[in-house]
Amino acid sequence: MQAPLKTAKAWKQLEAHCSRIKRSHLRDLFATDPNRAKNFSLLWNGIYFDYSKNLIDRAIFDSLIQLAEERQLKRHIEEMYTGQKINRTENRAVLHVALRNTSNSPIFVDNCNIMPQIVETRNRMMEISDMIRTGQWKGYSGKKIKNVVNIGIGGSDLGPRMVIEALRVYTHPELSISMVSNVDGAHLSETLRHLDPEETLFIVVSKTFTTQETIANATSAKSWILERFKDHAAIMFHFLGISANKKAAVEFGISTSNILNMWDWVGGRYSLTSAVGLSIMIAIGGDAFMQLLEGFHAVDNHFRYEELNRNIPVIMALLGIWYINFFHTQSHAVIPYAQYLDQFLNYLQQADMESNGKRVDKEGNLVDYATGPVIWGGTGTNAQHAFFQLLHQGTQLVPCDFIGFINPLNPLGDHHSMLLSNLLAQTQALAFGKTKQEVIEENIPEPLAQHRTFAGNKPSNCLLLDKLTPYSLGQLIALYEHKIFVQGIIWDIYSFDQWGVELGKQMADKILPHLMRVDGLPVENDMSTNALIRHILEIRK
Ligand code: F6P
Repeated sequence: MQAPLKTAKAWKQLEAHCSRIKRSHLRDLFATDPNRAKNFSLLWNGIYFDYSKNLIDRAIFDSLIQLAEERQLKRHIEEMYTGQKINRTENRAVLHVALRNTSNSPIFVDNCNIMPQIVETRNRMMEISDMIRTGQWKGYSGKKIKNVVNIGIGGSDLGPRMVIEALRVYTHPELSISMVSNVDGAHLSETLRHLDPEETLFIVVSKTFTTQETIANATSAKSWILERFKDHAAIMFHFLGISANKKAAVEFGISTSNILNMWDWVGGRYSLTSAVGLSIMIAIGGDAFMQLLEGFHAVDNHFRYEELNRNIPVIMALLGIWYINFFHTQSHAVIPYAQYLDQFLNYLQQADMESNGKRVDKEGNLVDYATGPVIWGGTGTNAQHAFFQLLHQGTQLVPCDFIGFINPLNPLGDHHSMLLSNLLAQTQALAFGKTKQEVIEENIPEPLAQHRTFAGNKPSNCLLLDKLTPYSLGQLIALYEHKIFVQGIIWDIYSFDQWGVELGKQMADKILPHLMRVDGLPVENDMSTNALIRHILEIRK
């Protein structure tokens, strides 16, 4: 049992540091330390992590590290990596790191080395993806598969969706991969509108195989296939399943040989390197998939073995704690300057907010400090023309992560230099701002000068990677996964369950029968919901 967080010595120190540092400006912090950029940055394995534009000094940094030590972070990391059941509310180990343990060193769960089953499943993924990529996997009528449709939601969708988009340059030129998640019939209908069932393969991804949206979409996809072929035998040519609930997948109609396993020790939002990533492997091929795993694995080792004060995800996490718990910030923006990372925020929102959006500690007590922030953002430079006004001149403090790639995948004139110059300029403008005096010196009259003044002193991190490759993408994702882990440990919450999504699901199940009958049923809901149901039924008549 952890001592209450606020009783940590480092916590008290940080409270005092916070009152002190609030009187400084990043301008002063840079002016007084000529080595600040070097002192607060790290270059590791192709990742340049600049955290110098944060509201910290050496004493604050040391107290943050001390906080991690007091919370026994290293011990907790070892518990995760050695397969202990740290997800206690579900009585499960948490071993996404095993999925990319490309060194194959044994990892045990309940005294059983899980590496052989991981390798076996990965080999099966390789066989399937090779067959599809080389045109050997034929549909029921003998035509090559040209379209792959991944049906899943949450962790069974967002990770693969994000990676496939991020690595679009590396994808098979003749295969189209689509993702269907929303139970809104528009999603499946629009996806299938231009597809030929004879050339289409569905991958139904669901750890539980009970998720309403996924089962509804898979059922409609099955009808679409059966409508064309009028033969149940067609299903085995057009459906694969990825699930920990093989029985349900078989009952759905997917043949046993077409089902790949998921394990209870991998959470949905941490599962893209498991068979959940089959669509990724089909898109980019087995070799590139292995490079993705290598990138993850390199960061997994960095996180496990590097000293805390040189450990990038640890520092990212502690800086987050610093703002959330001492500056009382409520959100954190992530701005990748890469169009290919268009889906990164959607992915990261689930990863972070489903993990750390918790209000009770591991003992079940209400916490008396803030936990996970709202994660939001968008790609630069688009974001600059959308919400950056608030970041620069609004009343809320929003710490930001800027992510950039030094070399472009699409060299096109000066585009990439323009992109990076914008990234750097934004971190600079946020940090240093523009004083009223500077504005006046530009001959801007009062009261306009006040509107054109930038307070600055807004913190940001900058992560620069050499190039967007499967390897560097794996690194980037793993950094955020481990950042989330560290914050959960400091806050003493369970980061690997998601009970908060259950209530809405249960209530939707109760409401559904009312909406499926035009005449309605007696309803026991609150007055507002009843009125809404009646209105829907009335209009539908
Ligand atoms: O709604 C939350 C959730 O349980 C996620 O954690 C999970 O990624 C998603 O639903 C999908 O679950 P499944 O893979 O079991 O269909």
